[in-house]
Amino acid sequence: MPGRTVSTTVTTTDASFAVSAARSADLEAQIAEHPGDFRVLTGDRPTGALHLGHYFGTLANRVRLQRAGVEVFVVIADYQVITDRDSVGHLSRNLGELLLDYLAAGIDPDTATVFAHSAIPALNQLMLPFLSLVTAAELRRNPTVKAESEATGERSMSGLLLTYPVHQAADILFCHGNLVPVGRDQLPHVETTRLIARRFNERYAGGAVVFGEPDALLTDAPVLLGTDGTKMSKSRGNAIELRSTEDETAALIRRAKTDAHRTITYDPVDRPEVASLLLTAAMCTDADPVDFADSIGSRGAGALKALVTEAVNEYFRPLRRRRIDLAGDPEHLRAVLARGNARANEIANDTLDDVRHVMDMTY
Ligand code: TRP
Repeated sequence: MPGRTVSTTVTTTDASFAVSAARSADLEAQIAEHPGDFRVLTGDRPTGALHLGHYFGTLANRVRLQRAGVEVFVVIADYQVITDRDSVGHLSRNLGELLLDYLAAGIDPDTATVFAHSAIPALNQLMLPFLSLVTAAELRRNPTVKAESEATGERSMSGLLLTYPVHQAADILFCHGNLVPVGRDQLPHVETTRLIARRFNERYAGGAVVFGEPDALLTDAPVLLGTDGTKMSKSRGNAIELRSTEDETAALIRRAKTDAHRTITYDPVDRPEVASLLLTAAMCTDADPVDFADSIGSRGAGALKALVTEAVNEYFRPLRRRRIDLAGDPEHLRAVLARGNARANEIANDTLDDVRHVMDMTY
């Protein structure tokens, strides 16, 4: 979700987080053994190009699951862009950037299905029966929606912001996704999805299982901060984007905030800016941030920045090359999206037919 200003502070109870974390370890074991039993559904809001935080936080994980043999569906959530802002921005351009990031990162259009909300009418129609299954009070209690609304300041909450977790349930349930890789802020939405699946089956299907309850798969990737030590976000100008050139990357890291201590140590609590740079380099080189700090020692922030720049540029060089190649073939991009939309439409139409059938709405 590039450009979003909401921080991923605690938005679920510690108890439900702990349950999901334990369950996630279990799921990983099952995935390793039977990847074919799972279908991942996840996605992003098309608000701009993705940065390293997105890459290490979610995108790399999707590619990992895909390579393990799990079927992957990715929704480009264009209807979620308009939950909390007045203008749509440059939707088609942003969608193009997102698609380039996906493909360059290794999402394989031959096995994965990438589609956009607005292209799948039957998915959107599921919103109506699903809305009937939740109360207004339940919607108002969603901690992530509350935080997002507060982040918009004075702006009063739109009906779409209040109800988008139900729309997100339609994203997941239309294709019977059973695995939703998410960060902590999205857990309440997976809970809502489970509730809707359960209630749909009870209320409209006489207990038959039309919709299974999906599981959240929590990622344990550490959170990368931006180069100013605050949350990495495009709108703050502190994000290294996947599409950045090597020179842009070097310039951004050169300006990164550090601190007055010359000796480099990994101390996320007292030295968050230095720690985040170390973590960035460690993720790119598959090293331990403590070892990375030791290798720099008293050579100071200049040496740190040079090494981080090299690590980032080295790691992302192949991805960036692929991205440039892909950007030169807009026909291919259009075809990938058209294929994804067609496949999603086919599945959504089948699901909506099933829903009409159990609801006695086939006339
Ligand atoms: N809300 C998610 C985000 O902002 C994006 C999203 C849309 C999503 N639909 C989804 C994530 C379904 C998981 C499952 O990041």
